[in-house]
Amino acid sequence: YTRLPSGEEYAIPIDRKWEFHRGNLELGETLGEGAFGQVRKGYAIGLWGRLDPIIVAVKMLKNDATEKELNDLVQEMQILMTIGHHINIINFIGACTENGPLYVLVEFAPYGNMRDFLKAQRPQQHFSSGYEMPLHRPLLPDNREAKPLTYKDLVSFSYQVARGMEYLASKKVIHRDLAARNVLVAEDYVLKICDFGLTRNVAQNDYYRKTTDGRLPVKWMAPEALFDRKYSTKSDIWSFGVLLWEIFTFGGTPYPSVPIENLFQLLRDGHRMEPPPCSTIEMYQVMLRCWKYLPADRPTFSDLVQTVDNILSKAM
Ligand code: ADE
Repeated sequence: YTRLPSGEEYAIPIDRKWEFHRGNLELGETLGEGAFGQVRKGYAIGLWGRLDPIIVAVKMLKNDATEKELNDLVQEMQILMTIGHHINIINFIGACTENGPLYVLVEFAPYGNMRDFLKAQRPQQHFSSGYEMPLHRPLLPDNREAKPLTYKDLVSFSYQVARGMEYLASKKVIHRDLAARNVLVAEDYVLKICDFGLTRNVAQNDYYRKTTDGRLPVKWMAPEALFDRKYSTKSDIWSFGVLLWEIFTFGGTPYPSVPIENLFQLLRDGHRMEPPPCSTIEMYQVMLRCWKYLPADRPTFSDLVQTVDNILSKAM
């Protein structure tokens, strides 16, 4: 049983083996906030028999959440519990369901979301006029100096996300909001897809809903998802193409100057984004295959894993 913010008791179906004693969890800073939920850093004592505290990410509701939002979090947890482990997704660790609010414990990714990570590591422009500007390399969150990213790193990022999505697709999970903001960067630059267990309600024609950084999620959506709300693994493939574009622009904003009304027509007319300067023709061709108007003409994630693996093995 967990308690709703209203004080009501609520039964949560969970296997005993996943229960984590809430007294052994210390909460830290807020990592992220959504409309109904938040994610906080947590220190778990005694996890996996370890004596040192393990850093985890703790998903929970906000104080004003409703029963429906609790249902969503429970459903997300159930997907996390049942799909099993893969290195390129944020994995489930356990949950505190007893004697208090529901806490869902998942893996912590120290470098945060991929979009901010890429933006922080944009190659510096070289200005040859005037004096030499001191070149400071961006610092990673742990204050280590980041080694400049190479083309091969970017292809490796593309490969890892394709692997994670191939796994999710094999488990019949449709992400519905695949974007660099929903990919987290863990130790050794291992990428982990997150927020895939959400049943999203982009439905209410809320095309103008913005992310916390002011960008429009519709710019990641396949035409059939946008026009007919038809979400599938094939619409995730389209979003993957936009994510590739984000990778090769170091966290750029898709169609920056295009208002939504024009985006609809643009896509119908077959307009697509230009190749990013840091991309190769090969990687741009992958993007274009993901952006085929008809879902059936797009590749599968397994196709993409193969293609990108090929490009990766040739990259210097
Ligand atoms: N922000 C949201 N989820 C996170 C996680 N699992 N690790 C780090 N930061 C996060």
